Amino acid sequence: MAKKISIAIDGPAGAGKSTIAKRLAKELGFYYVDTGAIYRTLGYFFHLIGIPPKDIDGITKYIDECVIEIEWDEDGSQHMFLNEIDVSEDIRTPEISKIASDVSAHKLVRDTLLDMQRDVARKNNVIMDGRDIGSVVLPKADVKFYLTASPEVRAKRRFDELQAKGSRDTLSKVLKDVNDRDYADMHRAVAPLKQTASHILVDTSDMSVDEVIETMKAIVLEKCK
Ligand code: DC
Repeated sequence: MAKKISIAIDGPAGAGKSTIAKRLAKELGFYYVDTGAIYRTLGYFFHLIGIPPKDIDGITKYIDECVIEIEWDEDGSQHMFLNEIDVSEDIRTPEISKIASDVSAHKLVRDTLLDMQRDVARKNNVIMDGRDIGSVVLPKADVKFYLTASPEVRAKRRFDELQAKGSRDTLSKVLKDVNDRDYADMHRAVAPLKQTASHILVDTSDMSVDEVIETMKAIVLEKCK
């Protein structure tokens, strides 16, 4: 099998990773892999069976009963299946965001999901987004980006998304959730979110989506030509 190209995009919640990665993947004809969705699906499983996300004994006992599959439709949208049921919508709530972050702190969980992520990249050209893609999952990725924006900008983006879905959360509650999740994702012992020396920093605070896409596409084309 010919060597595949992989592009890693890491960064905190609300930096625009999924919007950007999805569009960039479409333009380049790559698969977009949203690894946060995998952690969300696992978190959702434990939520459904009533295991608290910090209960490592419960997680250890039941993790093998959680079968996660990823499928992509023709427009490149990623669908998450939990024990054969499409849970792609169910995993997008603030409650599951917090549970996914807590669940993702366990080494057992990270080790269990590692092969699944690497396997997709072995078989396809991918743009993979997450927290530890450039540092742990695909350390040899052809290009690594660290996408970020100020907490206020990220919270406002999340707030707008949640409002569109009918949420009544206030902007200050969303900002607190963003700050709490940043802290948890950056300070966990295993594979914390961090910008490494090989990541290219893109601060999207004052950039439009089009500007971010153009900037990143130019870098990818230059590095992978
Ligand atoms: O990208 P997201 O907000 O959907 O991710 C949900 C949580 O999953 C995030 O708070 C931390 C965890 N996560 C992770 O630890 N490593 C990844 N590669 C992706 C997500």
